[in-house]
Amino acid sequence: MESRARESRRRGHCVRAVAAAATLLVAGVALWRSGQIRWPAHAHGAARGRRARPADWPSRSTFDATCARSAPIRTCPGYNVCLAEIFDFDEDEMLRARRDSRLGPPPLERARPWCTQWSCIDRTSCELPFKMYQYKPDDLRGMQLADCLQPTNLSRPGIVEHLTEDPSRACAFWFEVRERCRVLRHVSRLKHWRGNGLNHVFVVHTDEGISAVERVKYFGRAAIAQGHATAERFVRGLDIALGLRPKKFTTPDAQLAASPPWARRYLLTFKGAVTHRARVRAGMHHDARRRVLLVTYPNPHQCLASTSVDHPHAQRRSHAFSPLHADCCVKLRAHYTSYNYGSLMNTTFALITPGRQPASYRLAETMASGCIPVFFGFEDAMLPHAQLIDWRALSLSAPVDVDFEGKLLPRLEALVADRERILRMQRALRRALGYFLDRPDGTPAGDVAIVETLRKRFSFELRRN
Ligand SMILES: *[C@@H]1O[C@H](CO)[C@@H](O)[C@H](O)[C@H]1NC(C)=O
Ligand SMILES: *[C@@H]1O[C@H](CO)[C@@H](O)[C@H](O)[C@H]1NC(C)=O
Repeated sequence: MESRARESRRRGHCVRAVAAAATLLVAGVALWRSGQIRWPAHAHGAARGRRARPADWPSRSTFDATCARSAPIRTCPGYNVCLAEIFDFDEDEMLRARRDSRLGPPPLERARPWCTQWSCIDRTSCELPFKMYQYKPDDLRGMQLADCLQPTNLSRPGIVEHLTEDPSRACAFWFEVRERCRVLRHVSRLKHWRGNGLNHVFVVHTDEGISAVERVKYFGRAAIAQGHATAERFVRGLDIALGLRPKKFTTPDAQLAASPPWARRYLLTFKGAVTHRARVRAGMHHDARRRVLLVTYPNPHQCLASTSVDHPHAQRRSHAFSPLHADCCVKLRAHYTSYNYGSLMNTTFALITPGRQPASYRLAETMASGCIPVFFGFEDAMLPHAQLIDWRALSLSAPVDVDFEGKLLPRLEALVADRERILRMQRALRRALGYFLDRPDGTPAGDVAIVETLRKRFSFELRRN
């Protein structure tokens, strides 16, 4: 009797363990479907969790990078096998899943936004003209939070005229967050917090940013200006989406930047690591004959840098890549390294896809080279400085399941032929670039843009979002 009870308890544990594992798996699949690839593909069971491979699944890749120089890459032998092996990616299945996800009633949305321009901005206590107070190291003396303050010198044209040393006169309170700050939970101790952070703005120029959880826990009614502006973090009417400062091409080829959209070598280009599922799909539409160069490489979890070059069978934590997987890494790397990032800037259009976070270093880099952005798969992210930049006038946007060859490329080709229109787009692009690149005197352009957005907000001007 007793042993039967123990047996049934044991079974209960098993059932719960299996249920928990299944929940995790479902959550994992949902995350993968939502496009956020954050963990090593093989960590959730490259061999076990995947679709069963047919018995004749090859053990070596037949993909040859030189094929992709003259034929659409998706027609190259072995390419689709590599996509399936490394990313478990099947385009037809992905398109079907997208269609299916739209069946049935619409998803329930919260009826009211979390914060509105009335509830999270106090414009009644603000005297015009707009003035802003910047937190300084002196305000944080003796506080751990001092480690988090980036005391950027804002005494620059475009900003300095809006600064005040008198907090009682300020409409907004500016706090720039330093990278790798660990004590943001202390922000409520700030001198002018007034209980809930009203009219504060936290500026985060790093690509990680402040998460939705941190925000709800610590930041009260403060606004966040950050590049990592996904829908779940972003409060419309309050927050400000930033562009990330470019890492490369801070001084682009002047001749290229000045060349008109139709006098360029390529139609559409992209080069980058696969940090988001949209990039897997983009990469498979690489078609050199059509002047469409979309060059992707698996991220370091999917193909270890060392694995792919010197040690094709290297182990990572107890897991060894299959010979096919390692071989695919080597071949895809050959494809990736055969294109130069800078040469791909000589393009009419630049594909901008979400990366590890929606803000992309690439956006400003390509804009600086005079390429028209084509946002691809950005359903969940706010475009940078949307309060100031009319993105419709200078960019295109396509959903991740767009008919690439049948609809998107013909649209781009038609647009290149419409010279007047596309030149207008490029001119608007050059003006918008001013919000991304730091000025030669060191004035941080992104900060000027934030101040401009705040100023408009408090000066009774209608806002776009
Ligand atoms: C900030 O920059 C301005 C303009 O370049 C300069 O005049 C001023 O001395 C700087 N202030 C500090 C504290 O470095
Ligand atoms: C860009 O490509 C065009 C067309 O191939 C070429 O004439 C031009 O010299 C290139 N520009 C630069 C800066 O490389």
